[in-house]
Amino acid sequence: MEEAEKSDIFLKPLHDAEYQYLRELIYQYSGINLHEGKRELIRARLCTHLKKLGIDSFREYCNYLKQTASADEINKLLNILSTNMTQFFREKAHFDFLANVLPEMIQRRKKQGSARLRLWSTACSSGEEAYSLGIIVQETLTEVSGHVDVKILATDISSGILERAILGKYSKERMQDVPPHWRAKYFKAARDSYIVDMPLKNLIQFRHLNVVGPWPFKGPFDIIFCRNMMIYFDKATQQNLVERFSECLQEDGLLFLGHSESLVGFAPNLKYVIPSVYRKV
Ligand SMILES: C[S@@+](CC[C@H](N)C(=O)[O-])C[C@H]1O[C@@H](n2cnc3c(N)ncnc32)[C@H](O)[C@@H]1O
Repeated sequence: MEEAEKSDIFLKPLHDAEYQYLRELIYQYSGINLHEGKRELIRARLCTHLKKLGIDSFREYCNYLKQTASADEINKLLNILSTNMTQFFREKAHFDFLANVLPEMIQRRKKQGSARLRLWSTACSSGEEAYSLGIIVQETLTEVSGHVDVKILATDISSGILERAILGKYSKERMQDVPPHWRAKYFKAARDSYIVDMPLKNLIQFRHLNVVGPWPFKGPFDIIFCRNMMIYFDKATQQNLVERFSECLQEDGLLFLGHSESLVGFAPNLKYVIPSVYRKV
């Protein structure tokens, strides 16, 4: 029994040196700032992964990371550590607001000579945010006349979660936040789940992207959703990110943050509109 315990990764502590190494690695790679209070959570989440790798100490795992230095392993680590909690129409006031302002925005674009709308869900997790945006856009398009060229870019650093987003298959439980008439209109019912239907899927391009790294596009975007990701970053990373969002927003474009996030003191050209929504002026 004692021998079994000694080799059981589930019982081993994550010491300072190893935690510090993992924190720095994650910070450099993703901007995520793991504070001391996360140590036990990280330890617990890593155990199953280490067991699969046949590694039975955190020191050995850190050495493995140093030796392989593989983006693939760092990605796996991020998949394990990141918090992907999301839901359809999360923070519903944002989607109600968007539904109100989109028709006017489209009219303005038409007057400016371009019936073009670009949206970006920067940390889309398993896709619910991007599909919710897609539904609001599709509903708006039925109200405005003429063709509008719409694309939604949806990105995330976690490749595992993106695969789920691309699949677009959600349990009945996860679908509870989608009103029944939209469920019927935009999804196909399967046995115990729903699958996003093609017209909605075709509106969205899912891409792997580390938002704190280089962006292989310039925009401009009309709408940027960056919700419930920046809370994991430190102030300097948040500031830099907000400046970059502001640069690639259209004039009058909108930036949506999570309800517990704010831009206090960050960006003079982003003006408060409603809680956690800002307009570029
Ligand atoms: C809590 S979820 C938020 C999902 C969605 N935006 C929402 O509000 O419901 C946070 C997401 O941020 C992603 N993430 C964390 N760091 C990232 C980075 N540096 N670049 C892109 N995505 C990142 C995680 O993989 C995770 O899917």
